[in-house]
Amino acid sequence: MIADFPPEHAERLIRGRRAVRAFRPEPVPERTLRAVFSLATAAPSNSNTQPWQVEVVSGGARDRLSKDLLAAHGQGRMTLDFPYDDEWYGEVHRRRRAQFGAAMYGALGIAPGDHEARAAYDAESLRFYGAPHVALIFLPPTAEVRMAADAGMYAQTLLLALTAYGIASCPQGLLGFYADTIRESLGIRTGKILFGVSFGYADTSAPVNNFPLPRAGLGETTRFHA
Ligand SMILES: Cc1cc2nc3c(=O)[nH]c(=O)nc-3n(C[C@H](O)[C@H](O)[C@H](O)COP(=O)(O)O)c2cc1C
Repeated sequence: MIADFPPEHAERLIRGRRAVRAFRPEPVPERTLRAVFSLATAAPSNSNTQPWQVEVVSGGARDRLSKDLLAAHGQGRMTLDFPYDDEWYGEVHRRRRAQFGAAMYGALGIAPGDHEARAAYDAESLRFYGAPHVALIFLPPTAEVRMAADAGMYAQTLLLALTAYGIASCPQGLLGFYADTIRESLGIRTGKILFGVSFGYADTSAPVNNFPLPRAGLGETTRFHA
């Protein structure tokens, strides 16, 4: 435990992380990659089981994977290891999602009713938004919903580790909709994929990396009991 960590550093790190959707092409040096992914292993997990298996994809493998994902997308070949249903979200969550969509597509100059342009942008996300790397977060083949908590803990630790090293990232749930394609492309035989994280150096001039996205007020999501 650390007793004297300046809270303003945590404020900067945690509030300084944003989902980035335009990257520069240059790769992260191998030494930095190793430092970041070593730091992420400090994530907490249920009984220290560390049930994640992380596949870091770069270079030719990254380009092949993107090509395979775009082909699957074009043919409507989606496969999910964990189910998804829009119905799980209540009204308040849908409202927040709509606000996010309006802000992001607004920054991209895409009009709210332009479904074609929005769909084309989905394809852009299968190019990892131009990021030179993507980390794919797998769980064991027997994993069920509780283990998703471990993966989430790991992923946020990874995002903060990346941020601390000046590397931008975008967690992408959409990648988990192409489970079979990802396994085939990378020659992975087992494990369930939950999501991926594209990462690299940010294109700081891109408007999509510069729109404000406020959070719900503290009282809307948090109650203090005494
Ligand atoms: C589990 C999860 C799945 C996400 N999936 C996607 C995705 O498929 N595509 C995308 O562009 N962003 C995705 N995001 C990023 C969120 O849109 C983003 O974190 C959220 O809008 C808050 O913005 P911020 O990260 O910039 O603070 C995902 C984030 C999480 C945590």
